[in-house]
Amino acid sequence: MKEIEFIHYVCPFCKGSFEREVYGYYCENCDRRFPVKEGIPILTDSVNCWDFQSIKSKQLLTISEERGWSKAIQEVYGYSDYGFWISDVSRGCGVLLTSINKESRVLDAGCGWGALSLFAAPIADEVHAIDSTFDAVKFLAIRTRQEGIENICPAVGDLLKLPFPEDYFDIVLLNGVLEWIPFFEESTSSPYHIQLSGLREVKRVLKHGGEIYLGIENRYALKYFLGARDEHTGLPFVTILPRRLASAVSRLSGKGPYRNYTYSLSGLKKLFAKSVLKFAKVYLPLKSYREINYIVDLNDLKAQAFGIDFLIRHMNSEGIKNRLYYLFFLFVKVSQLYRLGFFKRFGFSFIMIFKKSMN
Ligand SMILES: C[S@@+](CC[C@H](N)C(=O)[O-])C[C@H]1O[C@@H](n2cnc3c(N)ncnc32)[C@H](O)[C@@H]1O
Ligand SMILES: [Zn+2]
Repeated sequence: MKEIEFIHYVCPFCKGSFEREVYGYYCENCDRRFPVKEGIPILTDSVNCWDFQSIKSKQLLTISEERGWSKAIQEVYGYSDYGFWISDVSRGCGVLLTSINKESRVLDAGCGWGALSLFAAPIADEVHAIDSTFDAVKFLAIRTRQEGIENICPAVGDLLKLPFPEDYFDIVLLNGVLEWIPFFEESTSSPYHIQLSGLREVKRVLKHGGEIYLGIENRYALKYFLGARDEHTGLPFVTILPRRLASAVSRLSGKGPYRNYTYSLSGLKKLFAKSVLKFAKVYLPLKSYREINYIVDLNDLKAQAFGIDFLIRHMNSEGIKNRLYYLFFLFVKVSQLYRLGFFKRFGFSFIMIFKKSMN
């Protein structure tokens, strides 16, 4: 695999070029310094801790160095869903829906523990993995070193101020990230406007003709109407309520204002159009974009018929809730509601591809 010799980082604030110093990067233009900590460039002034379990993630790093990353996940997270989510790269398979190839320069923006970077690395030229959570980036750096992967460049950075020049990437991955961008941002802007500026920043670093891969929950997924908790806040009904009401509910529950905005399919199209990014394709990942068994093309009715059969099979298990879903999906199949765009409205999550147009 190719070794990346020179990374074209620029100052995340003024986009000026860097001078390399012994301890990091220096921007002469705005007189800012960015350190390299434990081998990881810290190209932001806002380092966060996303999963709120920093004691566990510190343990993970220590054990990874001592006994290897895989053992570390087992020891710290056991066989939990979270441990599986960190280690399993197969949910990155949706990346194959983009035009990724051996020449591609990919940005995994908000890479987290790096599952998608790791999936993309063998099929791309280089992958830049950026996240504002230091421990996640450090873990990815350890894992890539231990696996002998040389074309992933992990760095701590902020998606709202990316440390890359314009027109730099062929593909940008945003998997489970759009809805988190407003969460750490301290500005008084609305979550919508913060997401919009994130997308505009992504568009800046994308080449003309380049693609964005988006993985995100559907705001109006069927299960939320049946009382399922939002994955981000842990609260029921907040996604489907009007935003102001959702914020009131969130505040009353002691969680502060509601900021993890997700969208409907048309809401996502509008948000991206506002950032001058062109919608190209939409898919339904099953079970979800967090755990992909199948990917259903939402413009293909035969694929959707398969999708509804999958859900029926999957829900045919114990528990009242599952039984309810089972009956509901059976109804959708028999009434052929899926032909009328059931998944586009009520599917759990979406994978979407957007493009920066050539002109
Ligand atoms: C749900 S995780 C998704 C991680 C990864 N993309 C995946 O699919 O495994 C969301 C990630 O977004 C990161 N994040 C949120 N806001 C960010 C920002 N402004 N800049 C960089 N990363 C951010 C968090 O630190 C967190 O690691
Ligand atoms: Zn600068």
